[in-house]
Amino acid sequence: MKVIVCKNYDEMSAKAYEVMKEVLSSKDNAILGLATGSTPIGLYKEMIKDYKAGNVSYKNVSSVNLDEYIGQGVGDEQSYVEFMRNNLFNHVDIDLAKTDLPCGKAEDMQAECDRYNAKLASISVDIQVLGIGGNGHIGFNEPGTPFGSVTHVVDLTERTISDNARFFNSIEEVPTQAISMGIKNVMNAKKILLLASGTNKADAIYATVKGEVTETVPASILQLHPDCYIIVDEAAASKL
Ligand code: GLP
Repeated sequence: MKVIVCKNYDEMSAKAYEVMKEVLSSKDNAILGLATGSTPIGLYKEMIKDYKAGNVSYKNVSSVNLDEYIGQGVGDEQSYVEFMRNNLFNHVDIDLAKTDLPCGKAEDMQAECDRYNAKLASISVDIQVLGIGGNGHIGFNEPGTPFGSVTHVVDLTERTISDNARFFNSIEEVPTQAISMGIKNVMNAKKILLLASGTNKADAIYATVKGEVTETVPASILQLHPDCYIIVDEAAASKL
């Protein structure tokens, strides 16, 4: 693990973009693994800024995303697919047909898990962006998820529901289930870029970097990844 501590959120985002840009510069058809949540928004802003400056093109780039809420999909305000369109895809020249997220509105969720797993097995993600839950989750792989897991439907923990309630009008509106890439899918990426900011992530970052590798802390598996960056601000690093 390469742990990089930055002064604040903006520096964390700029550093993250340095790592992302290396990948984008090394091949024009990179496959990006993307994440939602408030943490990667600064990275996406850097990506948009550099695209608008004419330094990078997403024409041949494709992407997959970690997860989606059950019941949410294209056109739904709270969906992760709309989040990605609003915060990145609509502002760069990526072909929307080359962007893929698990669909939370599929009639047959098992078939959707199978579709997504088959897709992930057929590609090789060049860089996977990750945020981290306060309880150490990655994607929506909550504590206790087997390290060998692939795309599956998840019951969200109370902590995750209350953490994510800030994006909704009330806690009752937060979906209680999601479809998420599994931990094995995440670990298959060639490079991993985990970002964290703020003191509410300090315990999770400590357990991820310094704790034992245990399914109780899903992100701790990243200690075993051969090319993993952990880029955090001082607040998230405060317990290291
Ligand atoms: C959600 C997402 C995760 C994300 C986490 C942290 O649970 N499924 O992928 O990492 O939230 O979100 P935030 O970056 O807003 O703290």
